[in-house]
This record gives sequence, C-alpha cells and structure tokens, in this order.
Amino acid sequence: MARPQSSRPRTSAETVFTYGAPQLKFGSGASDEVGYDLSQHGASRALVVTDAGVAATGLPQRVAEQMGRFGIEAVVFDGAHVEPTDESMQQAVDFARDAGPFDAFVAVGGGSSIDTAKAINLMSTNDGELMDYINVPVGKGRSPANPLKPLVAVPTTAGTGSESTTVCVLDVLSLRVKTGISHPRLRPTIAVIDPDLTVTQPPNVTAASGMDILCHALESYTARWYTTYDRKQPEQRVPYCGSNPIADMWSEKAMSLLGASFRRAVHHGDDREARHDMALAATFAGMGFGNAGVHIPHANGYPIAGRVRGFHPDDYPGDEPMVPHGMSVSLTAPEAFRFTFEAAPERHLRAASLLDPSRSSSGGSADTLPAVLIDLMRDIGIPNGIGAVGFDESDVDDLVEGALKQQRLLATCPREVTGEDLAPIFRSSLELW
Ligand SMILES: NC(=O)c1ccc[n+]([C@@H]2O[C@H](COP(=O)([O-])OP(=O)(O)OC[C@H]3O[C@@H](n4cnc5c(N)ncnc54)[C@H](O)[C@@H]3O)[C@@H](O)[C@H]2O)c1
Ligand SMILES: [Zn+2]
Repeated sequence: MARPQSSRPRTSAETVFTYGAPQLKFGSGASDEVGYDLSQHGASRALVVTDAGVAATGLPQRVAEQMGRFGIEAVVFDGAHVEPTDESMQQAVDFARDAGPFDAFVAVGGGSSIDTAKAINLMSTNDGELMDYINVPVGKGRSPANPLKPLVAVPTTAGTGSESTTVCVLDVLSLRVKTGISHPRLRPTIAVIDPDLTVTQPPNVTAASGMDILCHALESYTARWYTTYDRKQPEQRVPYCGSNPIADMWSEKAMSLLGASFRRAVHHGDDREARHDMALAATFAGMGFGNAGVHIPHANGYPIAGRVRGFHPDDYPGDEPMVPHGMSVSLTAPEAFRFTFEAAPERHLRAASLLDPSRSSSGGSADTLPAVLIDLMRDIGIPNGIGAVGFDESDVDDLVEGALKQQRLLATCPREVTGEDLAPIFRSSLELW
C-alpha cells in the first residue's frame, strides 16, 4: 500500500518504528478466569471498579465472586463517572484510600471505568495530586516514580481500547478541557476481552463506541508514515510513531470486521457473531492506533466533547450535557478524511472498500470515503453533524482553538494542518447529510 507523503521539511529521515504489544486474553468465557489471573500475581485483596450502568447488568459482581475461589477478597466500587472528570476521579481515589489497602485492581466496564481504575492505581501507588500527572500544559506531566499494582482490564464496550493503552482520559471541569495522563506504567497488566460482556450494550453506546473503533483504525491507517519523521535518538522514541507495516495490518483487519458486523451489532444487539467481530475489531484497532497514533478527528473530538452545552444522547445515564467520546470523534471524520485524501489517495480508497465491500474497489475520489462514513453514520443513528449536538457557525473559532491545543495528535496528520484548515472542516461538519 502506498505510503502517505509529507510536506514537512526534515533533516535525516527516520528508519525505525516500534511496536509495543499488550498482554491479551480474548474470547467467550475469558472473564471467568480473572480470579486465576489475579492469583498469579499474588493478589489477596482487589478493588473492582465499575459504573452504575454496568453494575446493573450484574457482570462486575460475577467477576468479583469468582475471586473468592482463589482466596482473593473483592470490594466493588460502582461509582465511576461515565466520561470521568477530575472530580469524579478524585472521589474514586478517595474511596480506594478509605476502603484500602488493595494489592490489585480490576476494571469491569467501558473506557470510563477502565480509566478510573488507572487513576486509582496511579494515585494509590504514587504520591502527589492527580494534577501533577496530567499532561502539560494542563497539568505538570510528572512521571510516576513507583511501579503500579496489577490491573486487570475487562471491557464491556467494544470501542476505546483503553484496556490495552497507556492513557487515562478525563475532563478537567474548571478549565472545560478534556485531557489525559499518559505513561507506559498506566497500561493494564492484562486485558481480558470477553465479547459476551458486550451483548447488553444499548444501541447508542454500541454505535458511539463502534465509531471510536472505526476512527482509531482509519486515523492510524492514514497517519503520517513513520519514515517522514526526523530520525529520533533512542531515548526520544514515543509510543506513537506514525503508520507502519505492523500497525497497518491491524487497522486493515479492524476495518474488514467493522464492514461485516457494525450495522448488525447496533440493530441486532444479541447477534453474538457480530458482537464477537466488534470486540475483535476494537482489539485490533487498539493494536494499530496504540502504535501509529490518531490525528484530526480525535483532535477535533476533544473540544466537541469539552464544550458541549445542551445535548444529551439517549442510552447514556443522567441528563448532563455530553457528547460521548466515540460520537465526538466521528462527527468531523468525513470532512477530515476529505482533507487528508490527497496525502494518500490509495489508502483512503482501500479503507472505503474494506468498510463497504459492496463498493467496487477500482476508482473513486476524495468524496468516496466520506460517503461511506456518512452512509454508515446515518444507518446507526449518529447525529447529523456538530449542528445536531448543539454547535453553530459562531462556535467554529472556539472549536478550532480547542483542536489546535492537541498538537501531539495533529503532528500525526499526513498533511500539515493549521487553524485555517480546521475551520472549514468544522464548518462543513455542521450538517453532514
Ligand atoms: N484510555 C484510553 O485509551 C481511551 C481511549 C478512547 C476513549 N477513552 C475514554 O473512554 C470513555 C468512553 O468509554 P466507552 O465508550 O467505552 O463507554 P463508557 O465506559 O463511557 O460507557 C458508556 C455507557 O455504556 C454503559 N455500558 C457499558 N458497557 C455496557 C454493557 N455491556 N451493558 C450495558 N451498559 C453498558 C455504561 O454504563 C455507560 O452508561 C471516555 O471517557 C473516553 O474519553 C479512553
Ligand atoms: Zn478514541
């Protein structure tokens, strides 16, 4: 597959890419083995972290109960906030401090529960405040000095890939900004992916978290090719090194699975084969983007989620304004990929035919991939653009300013991208069809 070109000047070209693989256990029934897995780490008292919605399915309790057979006492905390904030994470950390000590953690839930467990683990093994570890410029970007305790991550959504990543995402309420903590020590010890646990996801959660998978795969597949970066010194190597032959392989597989099963998983939630494919797609996309990186749709998703005013989607708890992560990254994706098309036309067209195998694989234009995405988004009930989640023309400057803060992500874009490029992308995304 042709490599995305870069217009950036460079001194000496990169010749090396890296690949970090998480430890995985995948398959129907995998979540019944968590007690055994923890016992292998010598755990005797574990905190199970989940949210109220997932707790209502009974899944976290089931995971907690089997730990007893291995002599592990389990305490369940079901207070993770859906799309965590600095305040909700602090409350979770306080709970763990009061109810602790724990020598292991288990997250059972979507990205929100898994990220909350990562923050609890960090703050119960290292001193200071949450803000010390949050990425600069919002926080101090401090690295944890001590190793973390074992964390088993058991996802119940097919989406974020948080079970395998080194990242923990949160909203800093006082600054109205979504940011994160990012360090290799945050990566869960083992990701236990049991597709059976995803069957109870409501349709809108399936749709939003599935769009997250799709954007992870597409953004990493179209990311700047690794040799277009300047040569790094060994100590400068970062987890995100641009698209490369290994990440490509996983992204392509993820897109084929999405093409076959995404619509079915949303419309027929009890279709086990579709749920299995979606869980596998999330895992594969995670293995791709965890190394290649993501770009414009994710950079734009941060201010869309952070500055929402009146919108609240069905199937999500409470009534506070929110644009779920997967929805927020999808809303500007069609226009973002229209913009990146010229950097690697073959990749955009190949992605379109993987996502929609009924499309003929020959020919196509900058409009082809956006059309495939819009068709899918309409079918699965994603809102019609950022206008449908409450933004208008007068918000565009503000959204651009927020996206420009995500320079780490924008640096992965296969074309140089400025505020003047982002403004028309947001404007054309006010209404998608
Ligand atoms: N750490 C990372 O690498 C990373 C990557 C992407 C996104 N994120 C973060 O993850 C969060 C989003 O996570 P998510 O999309 O997985 O969803 P989520 O954890 O926010 O859950 C969404 C809703 O679905 C419900 N739910 C989840 N699984 C269910 C099930 N099996 N049955 C019934 N209900 C279920 C939850 O109770 C909740 O109400 C955001 O905060 C986002 O920023 C993190
Ligand atoms: Zn994402």
